[in-house]
Amino acid sequence: MFYQKILRPILFKTDPEKIHHLVIAGLAVVSKIKPLSFLISNYLNVKSSFLEVKIGNLTFSNPVGLAAGFDKNVTAPLAYEMLGFGYAELGSVTLIAQPGNPKPRLWRIPKDKGLIVYYGLANCGANKVVEKLKKIKNPHAPFGISIAPTTGLTLTQMIEDYAKCFEIVSPYADYITLNVSCPNVANCELFAQISFIRELMEKINNLKNSLNTTVDIFIKIGPDMAMEQYDELVDICIKNNILAIISTNLVKNRANISPVSNQDELNHPGGISGKLVDDKNLDIIKRLYRRADGKVKIIGVGGIFTAEDAYKKIKAGASALQLVTGFIYGGPTTIKNINQGLVDLLKKDGFKNIDEAVGKEA
Ligand SMILES: Cc1cc2nc3c(=O)[nH]c(=O)nc-3n(C[C@H](O)[C@H](O)[C@H](O)COP(=O)(O)O)c2cc1C
Repeated sequence: MFYQKILRPILFKTDPEKIHHLVIAGLAVVSKIKPLSFLISNYLNVKSSFLEVKIGNLTFSNPVGLAAGFDKNVTAPLAYEMLGFGYAELGSVTLIAQPGNPKPRLWRIPKDKGLIVYYGLANCGANKVVEKLKKIKNPHAPFGISIAPTTGLTLTQMIEDYAKCFEIVSPYADYITLNVSCPNVANCELFAQISFIRELMEKINNLKNSLNTTVDIFIKIGPDMAMEQYDELVDICIKNNILAIISTNLVKNRANISPVSNQDELNHPGGISGKLVDDKNLDIIKRLYRRADGKVKIIGVGGIFTAEDAYKKIKAGASALQLVTGFIYGGPTTIKNINQGLVDLLKKDGFKNIDEAVGKEA
């Protein structure tokens, strides 16, 4: 309540990108002050066997992860466990550092409980990220690194670019996500094509085998593909040992959504996050889940603000979840509230853990 009634109105008066950086910098400081982070962590973490989730080699203490894009440069990697997240996906990172699109490039659309995002993969590059990852001490909640192609390359160059980035980053991550769905860079339509995704997965799977690494590989897709393509995507994932599909990234095609914000509020370039990602997202999760038949896990992301939102995605077929916008709108107790609510919802329906509820309404 304090966050929503007092702090958020103050934060939301300031430029969104400035606040974004300021919050991460603050989290980095707080998470390094051991006694303080211990107290916060104790207050915000919900420990319950109902919430534990296993995906491949990974165990998450709860299903709610931080989605990519909040901490692109791995500035506050220890903060997310402190805030109650079960895991965190950091990045997206590209092989070469890049400035992203010109500012302004982030806008709030509160009537739609969302954001318009036009960062364009701004990040400090793979080598810098690795320097930071090397400093993280064990034990810690699992974290993944989302990798994406450096802007301005041809399709063939992009595959090589992903591969080099994977080689540099994968030894220091618990899992790697191939982001094939950033809606805010040149050529983004091309690298979301099935033919490209197939070639990329084959390359990365071969590379993984030749490097003899056990790192888990996820893929993150967009919400704007034709429904049949999601079936094809699942098949390619199974063939190439992709462990989980993260569904979905920001909405790029605005013809697919019905915003309540007015034209002026929406008159910015970029992909949309939050509530507007939600509806089609549930259908996509169900489709992926049915096709995957347990051979690939689904991670649901888009418009999760409450335990009920989270539970809907689990029952649609998501084994784990991610969020960004719900945290920005809901503040530091968001994850605790979702996890506590999930335990209650699972108990009410007679389930003993998340796994038992997955796909019950797919
Ligand atoms: C500010 C911001 C930056 C983002 N940057 C990335 C990114 O770099 N890579 C990525 O895969 N997704 C990125 N996303 C998409 C989110 O990870 C997520 O898929 C999307 O916002 C839907 O979830 P939400 O409604 O919980 O925010 C970004 C989202 C936001 C709000």
